[in-house]
Amino acid sequence: MCGIVAYNGSREAYPIVLNGLKRLEYRGYDSTGICIVNGEPFIKKRRGKVADLESSINNVPIKGTIGMGHTRWATHGTPSDGNAHPHMSMNGHFIIIHNGIIENYGLLKSRLERRGYTFKSDTDTEILVNLIEYIYLKGNISAEIALRLALTKVVGAYGIVVICRDEPNMLIAARKGSPLVIGVGDNEYFVASDATPIIEHTNSVIFLNDNDIAIIRKNELTLKTIANEALIPNIQKIDLDIEEIEKNGFEHFMLKEIFEQPRSIEDTFRGRISADHKQIHLGGLYLVLPRLVKAKRLILIGCGTSWHAALVGEYLIEEFARIPVEVEYASEFRYRNPIIYKDDIVIAISQSGETADTLAAIKFARSAGALVLGICNVVGSSIPRETDAGVYTHAGPEIGVASTKAFTAQVTVLTLIALLLGRKRDIISQDHYEQLIAEMLAVPKKIEKILESSPKVEKVAEVFKDSTNFLYLGRGYFFPLALEGALKLKEISYIHAEGYPAAEMKHGPIALIDQKMPVVVIAPQDNSYEKVVSNVQEIKARDGVVISIVTEGDKLIRDISDYAIEIPKSSEIVESLLAIIPLQLLAYYIAVMRGCNVDQPRNLAKSVTVE
Ligand code: G6P
Repeated sequence: MCGIVAYNGSREAYPIVLNGLKRLEYRGYDSTGICIVNGEPFIKKRRGKVADLESSINNVPIKGTIGMGHTRWATHGTPSDGNAHPHMSMNGHFIIIHNGIIENYGLLKSRLERRGYTFKSDTDTEILVNLIEYIYLKGNISAEIALRLALTKVVGAYGIVVICRDEPNMLIAARKGSPLVIGVGDNEYFVASDATPIIEHTNSVIFLNDNDIAIIRKNELTLKTIANEALIPNIQKIDLDIEEIEKNGFEHFMLKEIFEQPRSIEDTFRGRISADHKQIHLGGLYLVLPRLVKAKRLILIGCGTSWHAALVGEYLIEEFARIPVEVEYASEFRYRNPIIYKDDIVIAISQSGETADTLAAIKFARSAGALVLGICNVVGSSIPRETDAGVYTHAGPEIGVASTKAFTAQVTVLTLIALLLGRKRDIISQDHYEQLIAEMLAVPKKIEKILESSPKVEKVAEVFKDSTNFLYLGRGYFFPLALEGALKLKEISYIHAEGYPAAEMKHGPIALIDQKMPVVVIAPQDNSYEKVVSNVQEIKARDGVVISIVTEGDKLIRDISDYAIEIPKSSEIVESLLAIIPLQLLAYYIAVMRGCNVDQPRNLAKSVTVE
């Protein structure tokens, strides 16, 4: 969703804000804007990317040591110059950038209109900045008090930064529902939606909580709640390396992240498997482990790719730990009045830790009395703070909008949980447990081998880059992978693709099969292999074109497929971690060949902080 960044210190703000916007652009990229204050504010905003804004400024020197910027993913109002942030209040006292949605903007707008306010944009944000101004002028009070009062009238979510032109050396940041991080430097402060724009300046950060506000003057930071209760800043050190947020020679972040997977998976199980490879330890679950072991039901929730990881988790946990698992879209879970028992355990899965639907579902589950755990990638994000316990995936920052290494890290954590619970519940013997741990440990090397075959995947992509429809099929663990493979292709190449359980093909999708629609069949040699062979035969009998993902040395499916991509032989428990790699590569190469912006696909955003 939108990205916001701000600076207050003694250096020139413009390059810091602009660079920060480039780092945050993955959060939304339909329009962008900046405000730099040097006595009078300089504001420039426009539809398009940060690079467009930069070239429109055309090297005009912009002076000022306080400033802010915004990169937008439109919610209210189309992407346009006028709807881009920052927004200024009608009488020019306040300037705002905002990530989130003001849900009662209609009511607030009509009240302001009755008091003579007019609006230049279609955004909910402009209503908020005018509400602050109205309260400020009417009450003849300070900017900070006006802002706090205004926020008590707002229903919705916001991460905001506000500049009052009457106090031009001060920034005020406030958060409810949308993330904000403050960077504490040497006599300088940064504010951003996440730590990526901050890390090159300082690794000391404060994660704002809901209802917190930060008043940032030169050399002085005051934290309080919206209700004016003083807060002691909790400054934390974050462990994030600047290299991790650079492309490091890769053409795109997505490709870099695909190729990082041998390392990122290792990082996910680092320190969680004992040195003798006989035990799994998940420190974040230590206190809740007795409840998990006895759980009667687990409910896994997530959105997008994280939901697909949850589906793999369902298969793993049911098979190895024999605990019933339900998987729910976070958005549906919250609104369909589900039955939640007090002894249910809900596990929320999220790369960003900020997805609004997932956060709302967590709050709902907690209010129903369930224990709620999180599996998240971004350290310090909202979901780990809203859950009772959890496991970080430690995949490192994922910048490409289409999730790749975060997915394999989530599946790795879910595999560790399934094995740990399976052993604790005595479903799997110690010998079997150790064998499965060994399978896990072998995954990074096997992925390296698959990545070596990327030129082959690229050739297949060349053949199918102009297709308009794809079908992805898989059984068992490979059904969620079929969904994920299809999602990757849709997201970044805009080709229509559907994932289906292979056996369901005959109940509908088979009608679509012809020479023009490639069918990707994920068919490693597992216990449903023979059945998948029959499914491939059914496709070929109808002149379909098959690209198969097969186990090294496979003959049967390879011989009847048009193209086959091999993955190393391994146990079923880790095969989904391997088979997803060629699917990610196929989507990537097709998208590049079609000239699509793979890291910033149209209409999407990395972190969706609105419901
Ligand atoms: C967005 C992203 C997807 C992601 C989904 C869930 O739609 O574009 O890649 O899978 O949100 O995000 P989360 O951060 O909760 O995993």
